[in-house]
Amino acid sequence: MQRERLRATLRHAYENVDFYRRAFDAAGVGPDDCRSPADLARFPFTTKADLRENYPFGMFAVAPERIRRVHASSGTTGRPTVVGYTDRDLDTWADVVARSLRAAGVRPGHKVHVAYGYGLFTGGLGAHYGAERLGCTVIPASGGMTARQVRLIQDFRPEVVMVTPSYMLTLLDEFERQGVDPRSTSLKVGVFGAEPWTEAMRKEIEERFAIDAVDIYGLSEVMGPGVAQECVETKDGLHIWEDHFFPEIVDPFTGEVLPDGEEGELVLTTLTKEAMPVIRYRTRDLTRLLPGTARVFRRMEKVTGRSDDMIILRGVNLFPTQIEEIVLRTPAVAPHFQLRLTREGRLDRLTVRVEARPDASSGDRAEAARAVGAAVKDGIGVTVGVEVVDPGTLERSVGKIRRIVDLRT
Ligand code: DLL
Repeated sequence: MQRERLRATLRHAYENVDFYRRAFDAAGVGPDDCRSPADLARFPFTTKADLRENYPFGMFAVAPERIRRVHASSGTTGRPTVVGYTDRDLDTWADVVARSLRAAGVRPGHKVHVAYGYGLFTGGLGAHYGAERLGCTVIPASGGMTARQVRLIQDFRPEVVMVTPSYMLTLLDEFERQGVDPRSTSLKVGVFGAEPWTEAMRKEIEERFAIDAVDIYGLSEVMGPGVAQECVETKDGLHIWEDHFFPEIVDPFTGEVLPDGEEGELVLTTLTKEAMPVIRYRTRDLTRLLPGTARVFRRMEKVTGRSDDMIILRGVNLFPTQIEEIVLRTPAVAPHFQLRLTREGRLDRLTVRVEARPDASSGDRAEAARAVGAAVKDGIGVTVGVEVVDPGTLERSVGKIRRIVDLRT
C-alpha cells in the first residue's frame, strides 16, 4: 500500500507543482524511479524555506476551487507557511485524529475539552473534527481566558482535555488559585502535544491531575495534529500512522538515511494528501524510529527537541527538555522555567530561571539553585547560572511555550 501511495504522491507532486517538477528534474529523478520505499532516498528534501518561497499557494497541487480550507504556521520570522486541504484531506485528517484519540483511551460519548488555539493554527480545528469524528461531544474552548477554562471544566465535566502541556501547567495554577483540587475533576485523559515535553513532565501532570497523559504529534506542513499518537496502554512513544505518512530518519548534517533505532531528524512524506503533497519534508524534530507495540505501526520516540532549539554553549549541545527533566526532579522548585542566553565579552552565558514552589523557604531555594546547577554540570557537562525566582514571576504559556529568551546581541 505504501509503495502504491508513494508512487501516486510523487506523480501527483511532479505533475502539478512546479517546485517539485524542477526539484526532481534537477536531481535527475522521476516518479517512476521509486519502486520501493527505500528508493525515496534518491528524491530531494523539502524544507520550510521552500514553503516560504512559494508563499502563499505555490505548493498547492489542485485547482483553487478544490481547496476547502487553509491553515498557516505563525512564522516568528518572515512569511508564514501556508497549507491547504481538499475535502478528502479534511476527511483523512478527521480520521487520523479520531484514530489517535481512540488510541489515547478516548471513547465515543466522552466530552472533549479542546484548549488548543482555534484559527490558523492547526491544533484547535484539527482536534475538533477528529473528536467529532470519533463520536465525542466537543467543547471548543480554544486557548486563553484561563479562569474560564477552569470553570468550564468544573461545570461541563469533560473526561478529556486536549491542550499543550505547558498550558496544562497554567491551568494547574488556576485550579489551585480557585481553591479547586485538580485531582477532583472529571478529567481522565489528557492528549498533549504541539511542543516537546518529557517523561518527568508526564509524571508531574499525571500525579497532580490524577489523569493519564499521552503524547500527540503533528505539524501543519504535513497535516496538523494526528500524524503520530501515543497509546494509553503502553505510553512508550508515538505510533506513526504509516498508511498516510511515510517516515525516514536522516543525519541532520549529511542528510543520509539512518537505520531504525538511530537518532536523527524526522523526515516525512505524505501518502494520501491531495491539496498539498509534501515530499521528504525536513521536520527538524529529533527522534528515532522503533518497532510497533500496542499498534502495528512503527513508533517514534518522544521528540527530544527541535534542531532549531538546540543551544550550543561553549561547545556543548543542550536542549530545553534536558533542563525540564532536571527542574522537575528538584524539590522546592515549580515546573515553570525559562532559559536566558546572554553574552559576556566573547562568552555565551545561560541562566536557568526557575520559580520556587510557594511553600519553599529561602534555605530550600538556595539548595534548589545549587542542585539544578550541579545536575546540569554533571548531566550535560556545562556550567550555567541558576536563579530561583518568586512564584508567579515567569510568563505563563497560553499555547506553545517559548523556553529560550535570547538576549545576545
Ligand atoms: O503544533 C500541530 C499540533 C497541534 C500537534 C496540536 C499536536 C497537537 P505546528 O504549529 O506546525 O503544528 O508545529 C509543529 O511542533 O515540528 C514539532 O517541533 C512541534 N511538536 C508538535 N507536536 C509535538 C510533540 C502543530 N508531541 C512543530 N512533541 C513540530 C514535541 C511537537 N514536539
